[in-house]
Amino acid sequence: MTQNGVLNADIVKGQINKNIYGHFSEHLGRCIYEGIWVGEDSPIANTNGIRNDVVEALKRIRIPVLRWPGGCFADEYHWKDGIGKRENRKRMINTHWGGVVENNHFGTHEFMELCAQLGCEPYINGNVGSGTVQEMSEWVEYLTFGGESPMSALRAENGRNEPWSVTYFGVGNENWGCGGNMRPEYYADLYRRYQTYVRNYGDNRIHRIACGPNAGDYNWMDVVMRQAARYMDSITLHYYTVPWDWAHKGSATGFNEQDWFVTMEKALRMEELIARHSAIMDKYDPEKRVGLIVDEWGTWFDVEPGTNPGFLYQQNSLRDALVAGLTLNIFNLHCDRVRMANIAQTVNVLQAVILTEGEKMVLTPTYHVFDMYKVHQDAELLDLNLSSGTYSAFGREIPEVSASASRDANGRIHISLCNLNHASSSSVSIDLRGLGTSAPAITGSTLTSDNLDAHNTFDQPERIAPQPFHAYKLEGSRLELELPSKSVTVIELA
Ligand code: AHR
Repeated sequence: MTQNGVLNADIVKGQINKNIYGHFSEHLGRCIYEGIWVGEDSPIANTNGIRNDVVEALKRIRIPVLRWPGGCFADEYHWKDGIGKRENRKRMINTHWGGVVENNHFGTHEFMELCAQLGCEPYINGNVGSGTVQEMSEWVEYLTFGGESPMSALRAENGRNEPWSVTYFGVGNENWGCGGNMRPEYYADLYRRYQTYVRNYGDNRIHRIACGPNAGDYNWMDVVMRQAARYMDSITLHYYTVPWDWAHKGSATGFNEQDWFVTMEKALRMEELIARHSAIMDKYDPEKRVGLIVDEWGTWFDVEPGTNPGFLYQQNSLRDALVAGLTLNIFNLHCDRVRMANIAQTVNVLQAVILTEGEKMVLTPTYHVFDMYKVHQDAELLDLNLSSGTYSAFGREIPEVSASASRDANGRIHISLCNLNHASSSSVSIDLRGLGTSAPAITGSTLTSDNLDAHNTFDQPERIAPQPFHAYKLEGSRLELELPSKSVTVIELA
């Protein structure tokens, strides 16, 4: 069956904030330590202790924003433990993640150095669960105050005279769970109090981010928006794609067709979550001043056999690439409300874009999707209507094709399309309207494989990578595409 669509290139539906392509790195497993931070004395090539290979790879996908230090770790983190001479820094137990010793060698200065090397915006998540108002307020002063003050003096003592510029600041993480097991009424009051002391110093303007709901907890969204919307710039949403249940999530590789289908079905739930949470936000914020930030999303499978269960290390396959592609399409299409998203997590944890082992590094299929989709960053969302056919399997049905389209600053149009069907290719026919009279030059690339769980390993790092896409033809104004089964494709019309 052919799926028909219309692209109205002269109808702009919004602007895709580049921060939708953001990332999240927590003090969890081997994300920060080993994955990003190796220390200045490491034999692994580094600049000021930060891995050069990882920085180069993240720059290639134009990482716009990076969230840190958690996650659950954020509400146990005391930032003053992570400043000063490294050998004197306090050691603590990372109780959430594997019970390992955290030596605090990667702290505020190291994170800001990482963001400077990446050329990305920092998004710092403060501690509400076990931290004080004073502690949060002093962190902001330490980071951003330019004049004479106790915290700017401490910063200077630690080698940094100038304040940093910090825009994004989160007031707590998952305060309904690991961040304090609070009720929304209680958190909303705490949020109002803590954010009061998250000050704007000099020219620095903080974008205050409230802790939003877990997945389908619509009551949390309703209460926090009702009580605190006027004190926030954005509110968060967390949703993970767990194929089965939390006790038996399923394996990252070696899965079957049903695991594939269920994963796609669960990932597509992001659409409903965003639509319903946005509708609640509209009640209290019809002007859409407050942004929705999906600052934790991605696949969550059983850990790789033999690895520390608290480290959340999983392989990443073509299936993850489809989850990334369809989720990013959903975010693009909701760019009126979704202003940032942060995949969990950058390196070695959950749906990582990069895996490392000693000095080796491998780029995952999810990395390649971020690379292919970077063309959407800050582009105009265009009106694309596609009547997707259905992907039926195991007695259930989901849409077969997910798509979004945008125009970049140079006038190039990009259409990203995912064929979720594990077994069949999908024919798509798009009527291109509003393009002008001359036929566009078309190029494309696609990520696919014969194997459902195709993935890259340290021995075979290039087993799956994007390939040029040629299965298209332009007949008059109709663009005909034949999308391979289980594929992510991006087409450029220049
Ligand atoms: O990303 C892993 C964990 O998932 C985060 O620490 C927490 O916020 C969420 O539950």
